[in-house]
Amino acid sequence: MCGIFAYLNYRVPRTRKEIFDTLVKGLQRLEYRGYDSAGIAVDGTRKEGNGSICLFKKRGKVKALDEVLCKNDSIYLDAELDVHFGIAHTRWATHGEPSAVNSHPHRSDKNNEFVVIHNGIITNYKELRKYLNSKGYEFESDTDTEVIPKLIKYLYDNREHDFVSFSTLVERVIQQLEGAFALVFKSIHFPGEAIATRRGSPLLIGVRSKYELSRDQIPIQYNGDFIGDVQKRNFRNRVDSSTSLHSVCDGKAVEFYFASDASAIIEHTNKVVYLEDDDIAAVAEGKLSLHRVSRSAGEESARVIQTLQMELQQIMKGNFKAFMQKEIFEQPESVFNTMRGRICFDTNTVVLGGLKDHLKEIRRCRRLIIIGCGTSFHAGVATRQILEELTELPVMVELASDFLDRITPVFRDDVCFFISQSGETADTLMALRYCKDRGALTVGVTNTVGSSICRETDCGIHINAGPEIGVASTKAYTSQFVALIMFALMMSEDRLSLQKRRLEIISGLRQLPALIKQVLALDEHIKSIAEELYQQRSLLVMGRGYNYATCLEGALKIKEITYMHSEGILAGELKHGPLALIDKDMPVIMVVMRDACYTKCHNALQQVTARQGRPIIICCRDDPEITRCAYKNVELPQTVDCLQGILSVIPLQLLSFHLAVLRGYDVDCPRNLAKSVTVE
Ligand code: F6R
Repeated sequence: MCGIFAYLNYRVPRTRKEIFDTLVKGLQRLEYRGYDSAGIAVDGTRKEGNGSICLFKKRGKVKALDEVLCKNDSIYLDAELDVHFGIAHTRWATHGEPSAVNSHPHRSDKNNEFVVIHNGIITNYKELRKYLNSKGYEFESDTDTEVIPKLIKYLYDNREHDFVSFSTLVERVIQQLEGAFALVFKSIHFPGEAIATRRGSPLLIGVRSKYELSRDQIPIQYNGDFIGDVQKRNFRNRVDSSTSLHSVCDGKAVEFYFASDASAIIEHTNKVVYLEDDDIAAVAEGKLSLHRVSRSAGEESARVIQTLQMELQQIMKGNFKAFMQKEIFEQPESVFNTMRGRICFDTNTVVLGGLKDHLKEIRRCRRLIIIGCGTSFHAGVATRQILEELTELPVMVELASDFLDRITPVFRDDVCFFISQSGETADTLMALRYCKDRGALTVGVTNTVGSSICRETDCGIHINAGPEIGVASTKAYTSQFVALIMFALMMSEDRLSLQKRRLEIISGLRQLPALIKQVLALDEHIKSIAEELYQQRSLLVMGRGYNYATCLEGALKIKEITYMHSEGILAGELKHGPLALIDKDMPVIMVVMRDACYTKCHNALQQVTARQGRPIIICCRDDPEITRCAYKNVELPQTVDCLQGILSVIPLQLLSFHLAVLRGYDVDCPRNLAKSVTVE
């Protein structure tokens, strides 16, 4: 849902070309968050007018913007800037079609006095727009964002004293905003200064200096007691003396990077500060300070400067054609990393550090509610049965949006799991707040350290799958799957009657990375199936039991990146409607594994072949009874029934990838989608 990137160099001379390159590269790392249009704002050079701000925007991907920037006159590109602040944005349209005028940065007026980049949605933008219109401010775009630069200019134009600080203005702006936002501001009135803030959308700041950072945290200045109509000197003194990064304060060279996520920062620095809701971060004269309006009970008094563990290599594509393909092939390692240090195969015990202090409470709960969207929801569907079996608790699996629409009753003795790769999905986050308000224990299962869901849940499990860049989720699904299974194993540790079952599953988990490798070795065979199917309009995926989730997830992968119609069908429902679709021309994939549903799946298969259907069957190796009915088959190694879905989804991930490539689509950037859906 839009990517934000900004770069400030203080006493580190950079040419305009270098600044453009840094901004463009930052946007490219975030492009998975949206790619309808892109734009940047930088300081004008002498030729364009000292003290001015120049905007460059372009519809389409970041590459199109880069081409515009490269065509810029070389004199401008060579201009060296000792202190500079540039902001950049890649957009996923919500309000207003993808176009240059709707793309960010948005501006306050024709002189670009204030420019801003935004990720999120301002829900009260219509009222604000009406008000600002009535005050004579004219709008040029159809976006919700444009009210923000107009509003800050309005506050600046109507300030009571000559001096007003940039962060005070931003603080007053966000007091008027409803909805979700991460914002970065730049202004001709505050050259070399940057202001960043957030509420509900992620934002972090990277700090790079060749000098040691002398602090490992940044104190927060609570503004309530002094901000407002303060005298210039008072304000400056208080901020400078207590809230700056000291190594930076001394006027030493420093660079700051602002981004929606760490993947855009890691190549520059691993020292980062994650902003919390309503934090206002200000950089002026190379010093970073943090402000909040006032302090509430129990609130931290500082933000920690964290060291990112991620490596640049993890977010590079390597020899793969697409991030999605790379991520599919990473699954032996990503699944292993989810288990690493948590399962002891000698003692057959599972310890999830993030949950162990809450285990007693979880065991006593009334029911488990698993909430997520899209693929993350499917991970819940895939593991519901084994969770019910091993926890002996009722388990509900809910789509976050529907859960909220129904105003589902939630009680203090419920335990609610929020599954989210990004940890930022708005529907899931809203559901989390809903459950928290009702007193339930909240558990996050995410792939993104420091994300909103991580921070707002009472406890949780990091799936440790590594950064997932491809918009279509793959390795996060299999790691979420494993994480939920590990939870079920941990819950059942002291149930004697379940020990045999637990041992079987733990031993299955041990073998899983090796079995995934065997499935990945079928890639060429799956590609040949894709070559037969890629011109079809529709593709049905059918199965039941443990593999129903595989069908839902496989169909979602196919529709989102190949734009073919695809449906995941519960085989038990076949005769209640979907059978009408079956004929010799309708491609059907059937997942038939050797488990408790085997006979029932076999029956469904026969119903399909009796209608001249030509099923492509995903089944276990050496199953002639099944393969005899197949038009084509994909034979997988067999594992424990409740883990089989981890293997059976991989051929469908690979198939969707090959279909998309053969149909000529951009696998990592499917149309109309974004990686992190931070709007409801
Ligand atoms: C599909 C896909 C989406 C996400 C969904 C939730 O490939 O990626 O369906 O699974 O938008 O996202 P997270 O897991 O980040 O909450």
